[in-house]
Amino acid sequence: MCGIIGYIGYKNAADVVLNGLRRLEYRGYDSAGIALNDGRLYIEKTVGKISSLSDLIDVEKLCDYCAGIGHTRWATHGVPSRTNAHPHTDCAGEIAVVHNGIIENYRVLKEALIKEGHRFVSETDTEVVAHLIEYYHGAEPLVDSVIHALARIEGAYGLVVVSSKEPDKIIAAKKGSPLILGVGDGEMVMASDASAIVEHTRRVIYIEDNEILEIRKDGYKTYDLKKNNIEKKVANIDWDIARIEKGGFEHFMLKEIFEQPETVENAYRGRILLDRGVSRLDGLRLSDDELGDIERIVFLACGTSWHAGLIGEYMIEEYARIPVKVEYASEFRYRKPVLKKGDLVVTISQSGETADTLAALLEARAKGIEAIGITNVVGSTIARETGRGVYIHAGPEIGVASTKAFTSQITVLALLTVLLARRKDMTPEEGRSVLEDLMRVPEQIRRILQNPEIKKIAGLYGEKRNFLYLGRGIQFPVALEGALKLKEISYLHAEGYPAAEMKHGPIALIDESMPVVFIAPRDEVYSKIISNMEEVKARQGRIIAIATEGDEGIRRYADHVIYVPETHRMLSPLLTVIPLQLLAYHIAVLRGCNVDQPRNLAKSVTVE
Ligand code: G6P
Repeated sequence: MCGIIGYIGYKNAADVVLNGLRRLEYRGYDSAGIALNDGRLYIEKTVGKISSLSDLIDVEKLCDYCAGIGHTRWATHGVPSRTNAHPHTDCAGEIAVVHNGIIENYRVLKEALIKEGHRFVSETDTEVVAHLIEYYHGAEPLVDSVIHALARIEGAYGLVVVSSKEPDKIIAAKKGSPLILGVGDGEMVMASDASAIVEHTRRVIYIEDNEILEIRKDGYKTYDLKKNNIEKKVANIDWDIARIEKGGFEHFMLKEIFEQPETVENAYRGRILLDRGVSRLDGLRLSDDELGDIERIVFLACGTSWHAGLIGEYMIEEYARIPVKVEYASEFRYRKPVLKKGDLVVTISQSGETADTLAALLEARAKGIEAIGITNVVGSTIARETGRGVYIHAGPEIGVASTKAFTSQITVLALLTVLLARRKDMTPEEGRSVLEDLMRVPEQIRRILQNPEIKKIAGLYGEKRNFLYLGRGIQFPVALEGALKLKEISYLHAEGYPAAEMKHGPIALIDESMPVVFIAPRDEVYSKIISNMEEVKARQGRIIAIATEGDEGIRRYADHVIYVPETHRMLSPLLTVIPLQLLAYHIAVLRGCNVDQPRNLAKSVTVE
């Protein structure tokens, strides 16, 4: 949600900042801007994507600038417009600021600054930061003025600030929004995430809340809010640049869908003890006794990660016999939830930065329960706050609609289920059988990915306006996820429903123009779901069924069948979701939608 970057070094800053913004664009893409600093500020901004911004900028002509900051926006305060785009400046045009987050008390500050004679031009909350720094930045150094300004600011921020009076440095600060510093040789680059850093250096420092960063081309200092020096550890990130490129695919989302055979494997690699029929998740750091003491599991998550949590609920309750509650993080934090000793709170978040999930985690902590995290992004705020948990190792997910992170989360939840279930009724043989099936999943996903039918079916239904997705049991969350994928990237109305609930409402929608996607692998509720198909058929609905290979009988009910290989019931969502991801993808492409950057969405939502 908004991407920010700052660079100082020996390279052409315009080039570095624009490239970095392209990498961060998935975080927000309604407007963008840069400010370059060599003792004078050069500012350019525009509505639209980074490509529109770079059309306005002649990078070669700006080769003298070796320091700059940039922003790609997802609007919270003020419509997307050139004026509201960042960077924002002070009255004198000497200070430029980019910001990710929300300044909650900006109205009060704005009124006070206007009384002091400051002139505001935008509707944003961010502009007050530039004026507030200006207010303090008379004779005092920029870093001091930033610290003074922060003392009056309430809310969340990742901030990057330059002043034309101090062109040899960039100041940054963080509270509640991510900020990483890349430490290069003769250059420093800071950004909202590592994707904008790895092409310059793999040595990074994770900035913590309430820390201030001062960078020059050959060094950096970190301070607390009282300007005491803080020592920071440099970490190495193991991504390489190829992992954040499209690698020959038309879209990141398609690339990420096709990466799933490897990403699922990465999620279980080293975590399976086949001879004992059990899994190991050392990062949980829970002793045998502590595992035995778990009386209830509470998952906290948003969006697709919440759907993964629902699948975890089905798995854990059925096999490990531990009650599970799955909470929308955004609701949990405000509804006075009851937590008690014996609860294991688990946050699930791809980015590790979702504001609601982070706040829910802090709410649990306030109630005396420390959470563990299932996270993708190493070093992200939630990963650091929880301090223990499981990384899903899916690699950078750039497409805004989550795909590979979802299957990796399910893989980890399956491992967690086996770990817990083996302490209860699951025998070593049963455990081994689930794990062996899990190890077959990558190959099975590969087979589904090769199925040409999915694209053909997409071609037949791209013109429809509404879709229903129905599933029972563990396939119900898969139905929710399939519907969400379609909504997110093709802007079609799609609803996921438990198949049996259809008759309590959605059945009224069904006529010959309504496609209904049934997730109907052969399982214990198969005959029930066939009855639901008959009900749809009787009302002339069009049926697309996701079914188990070899199930020819289902053709009697369905207009189209997409087959998936057979696997353990608990693992079946790992396979049934793949055709739904592809169906959504192909429909969105046919409709000419921007698959990787759907309108109004952002990859990681760092505001409430
Ligand atoms: C946003 C994204 C979704 C994602 C959700 C939760 O809404 O568009 O794809 O599922 O945030 O994100 P997280 O990073 O916490 O899993």
